[in-house]
Amino acid sequence: MIPNLKQVGRTFAAKVTGVDLRTRLDPATKDWIEDALAHYGVLALGPQKIDDDHQGSTRALVLLGNALWHTDGSQMQPPTRVSALHARVLPPSPPPTEYADMRAAWDALPGARQQEIEDLHVVHNFFWSREQIGMGIADFSEETVRLRPPVTHPLVRINPITGRKSLYLASHASHPIGWPIDEGRALIKGLIAHATRPDFVYSHDWEPDELVMWDDRWTMHRSTPYKELHPRKMRWCGARETEPV
Ligand SMILES: [Fe+2]
Repeated sequence: MIPNLKQVGRTFAAKVTGVDLRTRLDPATKDWIEDALAHYGVLALGPQKIDDDHQGSTRALVLLGNALWHTDGSQMQPPTRVSALHARVLPPSPPPTEYADMRAAWDALPGARQQEIEDLHVVHNFFWSREQIGMGIADFSEETVRLRPPVTHPLVRINPITGRKSLYLASHASHPIGWPIDEGRALIKGLIAHATRPDFVYSHDWEPDELVMWDDRWTMHRSTPYKELHPRKMRWCGARETEPV
């Protein structure tokens, strides 16, 4: 069956019906999803009556720690390529999740700025993002620190399907290689502020049993504030790139 797709964000993001994730997807549907992720970045597939057996390896998300704009798994090499979040239990007024279109953010930069930053490689450090929420390296065990060394990724990525360039930023993104740390962090902070302007953001309102899948290569996201008065259960799973980025 060919799924139906309707764009819901200004520059990206779509709602999709006609995909049942409980069944083994046929090659044509897999290709369709791959193509839709490349063009729309965020796909809301709903409703999906799935459980942990269907979603595979999962872990509960503590969304409060995800309030910074981020890209899942950028602290790893290879990083996460695609993520999915399934709404198992929603409160009466579920807080939206926000997504940013990093292609639109790249396209909107002045040409001189694009040239200046296009070839930079950026250090991504898990402990830098924790520092931004008030934690220090002393809050982690030596083992945790050893297992999470900084990695580097290009600042600009090119989508192999659409050929479009996008910024690759994250809360873990610290500074470009070869730049003084303070100056580099100011550059990254400025780029994240630019990339998350309302023009480039889609705010997703959750429906019961919905599964939202997003392309971590060219989108960022964040949770929005929520007072835990009612139960909420979201399940995350992700797949990593097969090669270093
Ligand atoms: Fe996330």
